[in-house]
Formats: sequence, structure tokens, C-alpha cells
Amino acid sequence: MNRAELRRRFPTAHDLRARARHRLPNFAFEYADGGAGSDGNIARNWTALDAVELMPRYGRVVEPPPTGTALFGRPISAPLGIAPIGSPGTAFPGAEICLATAAQKAGVPYVLGLLSGITIERAAELAPDVLWLQLYRFPGDGHRIGLDFVDRAAAAGVHVLVLTMDTPIRTTRPREVRSGIATPFRLSMRLRLDALSSPSWMRAMSRNGIPRFASMAPYMKPGAGLVEAAEFVRRESGGAFTWDEIALYRERWKKPLVLKGILHPEDAARAAALGVDGVLVSNHGGRQIEALPSSIDALPEIARAVGGRTTVLMDSGVRSGVDVARAVALGADAAFAGKAFLWSLGALGAAGPGHLIDIMAEDLAATLGQLGCPAVADLRSVRVRHRGAWPPADPEIPHPR
Ligand SMILES: Cc1cc2nc3c(=O)[nH]c(=O)nc-3n(C[C@H](O)[C@H](O)[C@H](O)COP(=O)(O)O)c2cc1C
Repeated sequence: MNRAELRRRFPTAHDLRARARHRLPNFAFEYADGGAGSDGNIARNWTALDAVELMPRYGRVVEPPPTGTALFGRPISAPLGIAPIGSPGTAFPGAEICLATAAQKAGVPYVLGLLSGITIERAAELAPDVLWLQLYRFPGDGHRIGLDFVDRAAAAGVHVLVLTMDTPIRTTRPREVRSGIATPFRLSMRLRLDALSSPSWMRAMSRNGIPRFASMAPYMKPGAGLVEAAEFVRRESGGAFTWDEIALYRERWKKPLVLKGILHPEDAARAAALGVDGVLVSNHGGRQIEALPSSIDALPEIARAVGGRTTVLMDSGVRSGVDVARAVALGADAAFAGKAFLWSLGALGAAGPGHLIDIMAEDLAATLGQLGCPAVADLRSVRVRHRGAWPPADPEIPHPR
């Protein structure tokens, strides 16, 4: 399909989602799309974003304005990026290669998930200008593995390191469980039958193999298979980084450091005080527990708390350029998307991520034009109505003692 055809058939992320649901094996779609509990947090993310109103001013801008901006001193073509996804190959084998290639071509950040099917070094070859790396906590032996990742990232030329804060506990997502996905991922008879219904997933699997944790190989016994790898990760990683540990990583990593999953303004302020360069406001795309605030509602208070001392990023629920504009208007320097990129892969394979970036950037340019903003930075002076913002308008209920 050429670009015009793609735009005609899949003008929004929701069109990609509908096609992905139809084209992927059930387990792959459920992995990509499911959240905690009954998806209540996913619904909150969407509803909260949809509720943010932006007031236009007319008589100023004629041409669709440029979407380019900069993050951590590096130019990017639009204030959007690809959020880290552990094992995106479950949704679409070879996903990491498609995502890295599309991000590099479009000039937007790609955050490689630590549990990806390609190594940091390979990702750096594919996306030398835009690669970021996400780390989970590997506390054993004085953080030997975690700090080795830091050194590997520096040697590979990774630009930004992202420490995930919002997974203090392991959670399961009921839709994944119901679909028959087990850890470690293996093509059981049930999944095999499911996969046979999807020629595109099967083709991608025969080209790229079963998803594995490629960057982990140096820390495991030679020849360790998937089962050992998953067992290794389960044993060695877990818990949320403590502030002392963050200081340790801050010391070791000289380039921009971001904490991902921040929702409380005091955590953001503490990160800024520790010399962290950015906070990524996130509820993990609604995958942890259902009761978390939506990121967009937590964002303005966090932007106020850091007061320009750190870069502010957000994700969770972002599906369009207008969502990106809402986030920037409320204090984010850029917004990231996770699930929408998996939908794009499920719908269109390798062509998906590039198409999604295209339609989101176009939608952002149209939004800027409609609002009368000559550039992305002008979104900050747009009048915003945001009734869901924290702190709540009703007084917070004091903790019963
Ligand atoms: C299938 C899947 C796997 C994910 N794995 C990780 C991960 O390994 N590390 C991480 O920090 N975030 C992970 N996330 C969360 C994303 O980085 C991001 O916060 C979230 O997807 C944003 O919300 P959205 O999906 O609504 O765009 C994952 C998300 C999905 C959908």
C-alpha cells in the first residue's frame, strides 16, 4: 500500500487497532492491548485525554506549522516517541527492528525495552540518532547487571537512559492469562493453533524466530534457552529503584537520565533534586493496577513541581497528534505511545510504525494550525480546560487514623 492508500484506509490509530484485532492471533492482540483488571485504567487514560479542551485563536497562522522541536538538546521531528515495550515480538515477531528503523527514519525517539528481542548494540546500529534504553532493576551483586547495561548503553551510543519506577510489584493482565500466554513465552499447542489463524504473524515468526531476551545473553550460561532466560530475569530483576539506587545510576550514567512512571509531584521534585534530567509521567499504559490516576491528569501538577528543572515527558493513552498537543499544552516536552505502535505492527507489519508516526505528526500539525500556534512551543500559551487535573477540586479525603 502506498502512503495515500494507507492514509485513506487507516487515518487514525483506532483504525489500526481494529485491523490488528482482526489480523493478529488472539493471544498477540490480547498481549498488546490488555490492561490491569477490566481495562479500567486504559479507559481512564483515554477518557481523561479526550476531556482536555484547547481554546483556538484565529487570524494568525496560515500554513500548517512545523512540528519539529528538541529533547535533551537533540532535534526531533515531532514531540512524540515510541515507549519501551518488553517483548514486543509477542505481538509481532521482529517488532523491535521495525520500530527502531521507523523511529530513525522519522527522527523521533525509540526507547528500547530491556527485555527486547534485539540487543542494545543491534538497536544502536538501526537507530543511531534516536535510541534510548529502558532499564528494570537488577539489584543482585551490587547492581552488577544493571550497571553493566549502563556501560553497554554508553559504549553503544544510547542517548538517554530510562529507569522504570512504576513496577514495584509484578502484575498479570487477565486478558493475557485468558488467552493462554505463559511465562516464558512458548508456542504451546493452543497458541500454535491460534497463530495458524494469522498468516502475517506466522510469516513474521518464521523470519524472526520466537521472541527472546537478546540483551540478557552475556549474563546467562552459554546456550541458555528461553525458559532459563525467563527464569533468570524473574530471579534477578524486580522491585522499584530506591532513591539511593537512582543516585548510583546517576553517578554512573553521564548522559540524560529519565525516571519513568512518576505520578506524584513530590516524587518528581525529588528526582529533580537528585539531578535526574527528566521524568516520564506514566501509569504504565494502565497495565499495573486499575486505580492509578491518568497521566494527563497528573501531568500539570508535576510540571509545576519541577518548575523547569527537568524535562517532563508523558505516556499512557496517547493515540493521536491532538493527544500530543494536549500533553504539551499541559506541560510535557513530548508524549510517547506504546500500545498504538503495537496496533500499527499488527495491522500493517513493518509499514505500521512509520505510518502511525506520519498520521500523528500530521494531526499535530493540523492541531497547531487550528489553534493558531506557529510552533510546538506556542502550545504552552493555549488556554486549556482540564477538569480532571490533580489536585482534585474536591478536598482530598484525609487518611483515616
Ligand atoms: C505490551 C506492553 C509491554 C510493555 N513493557 C514495558 C516494559 O518492559 N518496560 C516499561 O517501562 N514499560 C513497558 N510498557 C509500558 C509502556 O512503556 C508505556 O508506558 C505504555 O504503553 C504507555 O501507554 P499506552 O500503551 O496507552 O500508549 C509496556 C506496554 C505494553 C503495551
